[in-house]
Amino acid sequence: MATTKILVIGGTGWIGKFMVEASAKAGYPTFALVRDSTLSSPAKASIIQKFNTLGVNLVLGDIHDHESLVKAIKQVDVVISTVSYMHLPDQYKIISAIKEAGNIKRFFPSEFGNDVDRADESVDEGKELFDTKVNIRRTIESEGIPYTYVVANFFAGHFLPTLSQLFVPIPPTPFDKVIILGDGNPKAVFNTEEDVAAFTIKAVDDPRTLNKVLYIRPQANTISYNELVPLWEKKTGKTLERVYIPEEQIFKLIKESSFPFNMGLAIAHAAFVKEEHTNYEIDPSFGVEASQLYPDVKFTTVDELFKEHDGSTPFYLNQFIQAN
Ligand SMILES: NC(=O)c1ccc[n+]([C@@H]2O[C@H](COP(=O)([O-])OP(=O)(O)OC[C@H]3O[C@@H](n4cnc5c(N)ncnc54)[C@H](OP(=O)(O)O)[C@@H]3O)[C@@H](O)[C@H]2O)c1
Repeated sequence: MATTKILVIGGTGWIGKFMVEASAKAGYPTFALVRDSTLSSPAKASIIQKFNTLGVNLVLGDIHDHESLVKAIKQVDVVISTVSYMHLPDQYKIISAIKEAGNIKRFFPSEFGNDVDRADESVDEGKELFDTKVNIRRTIESEGIPYTYVVANFFAGHFLPTLSQLFVPIPPTPFDKVIILGDGNPKAVFNTEEDVAAFTIKAVDDPRTLNKVLYIRPQANTISYNELVPLWEKKTGKTLERVYIPEEQIFKLIKESSFPFNMGLAIAHAAFVKEEHTNYEIDPSFGVEASQLYPDVKFTTVDELFKEHDGSTPFYLNQFIQAN
């Protein structure tokens, strides 16, 4: 029976709910910091109900309420933050509460994307987002807080249902044409949210991930855009026209567009053009790869996601195709 107590801050959010569920299902005493307004929100009712079914301890609090943060943190051993990009700078408040509480064995800041220390060629809003996460890393380290940074690359549930077409409107229907950034050859990585959460929870107590980066980069989920499109075509039975966008035009599009398109495009540029998910080696001095470290985690491969749903794995693409 796992005894390490885990608090998720942002547990009712997109990745947070997977994290809370994985923690509770792995047998850890699990706590979720929730705001009063979240508890009474109809949009969050099913998540809260699930947490109750799983025996999750709901702790009332707010990232902007220092006392509530310290009180929540004092009850646990590990803090996982899954706050959104908008609230990334508010994590200085979590850091300050962790320092005051003085009992935390491991902090997982809200990362779950690129390795922000190895994202040198990202631009504009993508760079801004990554730099914010870099600054949080440096503060955690200078404060001497034990940490693990989880580099999850792309969430499959975010990026695959639309074939990473993000917010680009392509008339007449989204999938007669497909926009490919750059030449489509760089390799990106897609992991389901369930697997990102499962690997993160595995790392919670593991000395091999202490003060390290946990990279979720299974070979089977490492794929170029040019390889992804035929999988989609096979699934849908529809051939797509490929429209390649050169880098100069991507820069122009980012500059000319507004949020959230500019940020989405900049993040996609980093992965699909600059290959920032895979263009570096994972050195044991700073990181470990999750599927190698935890071979017992039966993660879902991209190929499996594109195959017929057999009832045992989440299948985002089926849902998407049916809805359209
Ligand atoms: N790799 C990828 O493909 C990918 C994709 C998306 C995000 N990400 C990363 O994942 C991380 C989490 O993003 P997300 O999209 O999952 O976030 P999200 O869905 O926006 O969830 C944010 C959570 O923070 C909570 N929250 C907001 N204000 C709060 C406050 N004042 N006090 C306490 N809690 C508060 C929200 O509560 P409510 O539930 O009440 O709103 C929600 O639970 C980010 O670092 C982001 O960059 C990665």
